[in-house]
Amino acid sequence: MQDMPSLPGRRIVLGITGGIAAYKTPELVRLLHARGALVRVVLSHSARQFVTAGALAAVGAQVVDDRGPGMVHIELARWADAILIAPATAHLLSRLAAGAADDLLTTACLATEAPLCVAPAMNRVMWRHAATRANCALLAERAVVFIGPAEGPQACGEDGPGRMTEPCEIVAALERLWAAHGSLQGVRAVVTAGATYEALDPARGFTNRSTGKMGYALAAALADQGASVTLVSGPTALAPPPGVRIMAVTSAAQMRDAVMACREEMDVFVGAAAVADYRPQTVLARKLKKTADALTITFVRNPDILAEVAALTPPPFTVGFAAETGDLESQARAKRARKGIDLMVANPIDEEGVGFAHDDNRVLLIDKDRTVAWAAAPKTEVARALVREIIKRLPRTAPP
Ligand code: C5P
Repeated sequence: MQDMPSLPGRRIVLGITGGIAAYKTPELVRLLHARGALVRVVLSHSARQFVTAGALAAVGAQVVDDRGPGMVHIELARWADAILIAPATAHLLSRLAAGAADDLLTTACLATEAPLCVAPAMNRVMWRHAATRANCALLAERAVVFIGPAEGPQACGEDGPGRMTEPCEIVAALERLWAAHGSLQGVRAVVTAGATYEALDPARGFTNRSTGKMGYALAAALADQGASVTLVSGPTALAPPPGVRIMAVTSAAQMRDAVMACREEMDVFVGAAAVADYRPQTVLARKLKKTADALTITFVRNPDILAEVAALTPPPFTVGFAAETGDLESQARAKRARKGIDLMVANPIDEEGVGFAHDDNRVLLIDKDRTVAWAAAPKTEVARALVREIIKRLPRTAPP
């Protein structure tokens, strides 16, 4: 049996700057790729003297430059789970320390909230120089993670500290970084996702347009932070995220039972499912025939899963979604208070390109004190940002 990849779906921006050690970066990309990471590469101008975009692409990297449309640096900064610069030259370290923003790599470094790792590579005297020391101290203070450098023979013929750490050790350092960054280690999260289906007869039923994308992205983002995640999912066409326990359900009543079965093991509850508020009072055993000119169906209320979870003692940290038309904020704020939940994520469903069945979402984040509006972004990014907000608010975890 094959081992589980150690960096499954990790999104790594690899910045390569102009040191001779750049010739080792195709091997670094190959190792990252083999461990399940997704790698986008930014090459500095001088790095191109040592390694080609073609070699990096051949081993699985996507080479990015800033010639495309839009704000590539922002897109890259948001996409990244980590930025790794290897090799990082003395010049690059000085520019990072100064907050330079004059090329794609440095602007992405400034614009990201992801961890920044550097694997320095330079002559030993340059490494020990007071200017480099001061730059490194400043960067370390800003939580930049230093991987190396190693000691040994150098390309310049000298021997000492300044060799780039070997690719396999850089990969091991990243694996450790994520193990340490999993701020939700030991936290048990339950997420509901997708639509429910309320049967009327063996052939027909009532459902809605939810695809489950938001809930699945949240389950993945929680698992990425080390939470143990149970995803209670209505019928969807989505593949379950790796490492997440899935409980497949159809109706709201089944979803409620599955969630309540986890009640003793739930530190965080995220209700991202579009649960039907009503179900047909009677589920017919045989297919309904079209005999009458008009048809009246009586619906009865479904259990409100989110409200029921929020009323548990002690309650888990609860997050709900409010998909609304019309005045988003006031409706969602009232709903948050009524259901007694910690955090309400409100999104409009009457806007072009966001919400139901779209890849993007534009949300308002509402807690008891305030409302914060986020710009429209891919659901995967909204999910990661939401998980950061959950982490901030959980009493026993520290921000990643
Ligand atoms: O009241 P409304 O359906 O707009 O509330 C939406 C939020 O409540 C979502 O988080 C949804 O998952 C949750 N909900 C629920 N059970 C229901 C209805 C909604 O958990 N029966």
